[in-house]
Amino acid sequence: MNTRWSTLAIHAGEEKRKPYGSLTTPIVQTSTFTFANSAEILEFMHSKSNGGPPSREEYGRYGNPTLRIAEQKLAALEGGERALLFASGMAAITTTLLTILSQGDHLLMVSGIYRRTSELAQAYLSLWGIETTFVPIDQPESWEEAVRPNTRLIFTETPTNPYLRVIDLHALVDFARRHRLLTIVDSTFATPINLRPLEYGVDLVIHSATKYLGGHNDLLAGVVIGPAEILNRIEEARGVLGTISNPNEAYLLIRGLKTVALRVHRQNENGQRVAEYLASHPRIQRVYYPALPSHPDHVIACRQMSGFGGVVSFEIDGDFACTARFIDLLRIPYIGPTLGGVESVVQQPAAFFSLDPRERAEAGIRDNLVRYALGIEDPQDLIADLEQALAQI
Ligand SMILES: Cc1ncc(COP(=O)(O)O)c(C=O)c1O
Repeated sequence: MNTRWSTLAIHAGEEKRKPYGSLTTPIVQTSTFTFANSAEILEFMHSKSNGGPPSREEYGRYGNPTLRIAEQKLAALEGGERALLFASGMAAITTTLLTILSQGDHLLMVSGIYRRTSELAQAYLSLWGIETTFVPIDQPESWEEAVRPNTRLIFTETPTNPYLRVIDLHALVDFARRHRLLTIVDSTFATPINLRPLEYGVDLVIHSATKYLGGHNDLLAGVVIGPAEILNRIEEARGVLGTISNPNEAYLLIRGLKTVALRVHRQNENGQRVAEYLASHPRIQRVYYPALPSHPDHVIACRQMSGFGGVVSFEIDGDFACTARFIDLLRIPYIGPTLGGVESVVQQPAAFFSLDPRERAEAGIRDNLVRYALGIEDPQDLIADLEQALAQI
């Protein structure tokens, strides 16, 4: 059956008959899972020795039935064999990289991605003797120059945070296959509703499920999706590193995922309408949104994505203080550092980045940049709100 994404988001991973006839998936709130007798333990140990996923649960750091439902739903949505849930997006990224890389390895990381991911490579992987070269997202020739005999993988985001750059996935996979590298794509900004990187031959997809997948600004979680062969190894590492999620977050994620297609479609619409409005406003210097022909990756984005998401970044005609004033004048969005939820959230990236203007300039974060993560409010209200704020600066 060719099940569409909104149907999968609701039904994938769910048993039709759940405990007690419950319609919704129960939260299995336990730290451990008991065995009736020693024979059951032996049976369990035999099932584990086959290398596949265990036949039952053992201990909460290794797995939980509520998490497994969320994982199956996420695997179905991305079209992957398996998915693993983590305590946060960063826990997913950290555990994946620590599973795959070892001392003496080298990786390529696309520049301009989420700051903490770059920091993981620069400040932490380096301590373990793992070197990183940052490469531009739009220059595959430079990837060729950067690759070394000990390069193991290339890591990218698409679209990136906060400038929404989009990588050409065909070029990425072609390059990686020629050099026998693993490809990892952080697809948080795209969501499986707008892009499914595994269909392009990408090896692993990661999401901060805190964002669009959860969708309600009430949970922290991360997910890795891909082939069982690699995911089984990452699962082992998750059990050792203790980076797993918990049944309450998994329940909230299952609940949030049921509306992911509806929400993301509205966020795509809000993104498009707000970006077009801003692009034509005289007080806006520049708008970063892949649907706009002015975006450097517009052509790739149109070929690759079925929607462009709810984040619009733009530069105000004004300085740091003027941009801060504009943000304070907005009445609908909350001010904060997240995206993807039903409530709109806005931020001035420079204010969160550093108090030192030189550090901001070096990182390419302009003082007048605004990142507006649109929720699912009415687009007319969002635009009217922008209008009144822009009229006052
Ligand atoms: C693209 C991207 N990846 C990963 C993360 C980290 O996710 P989390 O906050 O769930 O650890 C974020 C957080 O903002 C992000 O924007």
